[in-house]
Amino acid sequence: MKEHWNQRFAEAEFAYGEAPHVSLAERFCTPGTGRVLCLAEGQGRNAVHIASLGYDVTALDYSEVGLERAQELAARHGVSIQTLKADLSTYSFEPEAWDGIVSIFGHLPAALRARVNAQLHAALKPGGWLQLVGYHPKQLEYGTGGPQEPSMLYTVDGLKAELGPGWTYVVAELVERELEEGPYHRGMSAFVHVLAHKTSN
Ligand SMILES: C[S@@+](CC[C@H](N)C(=O)[O-])C[C@H]1O[C@@H](n2cnc3c(N)ncnc32)[C@H](O)[C@@H]1O
Repeated sequence: MKEHWNQRFAEAEFAYGEAPHVSLAERFCTPGTGRVLCLAEGQGRNAVHIASLGYDVTALDYSEVGLERAQELAARHGVSIQTLKADLSTYSFEPEAWDGIVSIFGHLPAALRARVNAQLHAALKPGGWLQLVGYHPKQLEYGTGGPQEPSMLYTVDGLKAELGPGWTYVVAELVERELEEGPYHRGMSAFVHVLAHKTSN
């Protein structure tokens, strides 16, 4: 699977464009500055945007080609990001290390996704926040991007169950709107958007 991503990310055009995903561009509402971890961040479009707002950003992915392109994009925008080559199936989250965690279209096999999501609360500092976007099963009807395997898709209730207790949800919704993100995310789309603060341990 990693080779699939390396091939896609080696194409001339950025697979999902160079602009951040719209939910992030429109509703990124973290106060102040701090350390932000972007999970499964591919070619870095979201990480570069967040870095341009003044955050200290780490883009994690297992695709080295994606991370090279992320650094290329950061250099072009005159911002600095850290890249971390890691496989989420073996990655250990440091406790209370991050002010923010961002996961945009990080579609993983269901068991791995649940394991990763269950670790996000502990990985955030007290008061830290999470912004997550992932295609919903309705996306299979639109066919405009994302995995075809239903178990890799997100529902609001399923995601909340995986995240566990201790969150305040600012946004937790199914969004249906047009996306224009590079050659691979184009057209009417259905995705889950969650913006949540860690409110208790
Ligand atoms: C659809 S892309 C999303 C990229 C980026 N977040 C964006 O919105 O442009 C999915 C990403 O998940 C990464 N990925 C998939 N499985 C992974 C794993 N086990 N560990 C780390 N990254 C993974 C892929 O390399 C790819 O970059």
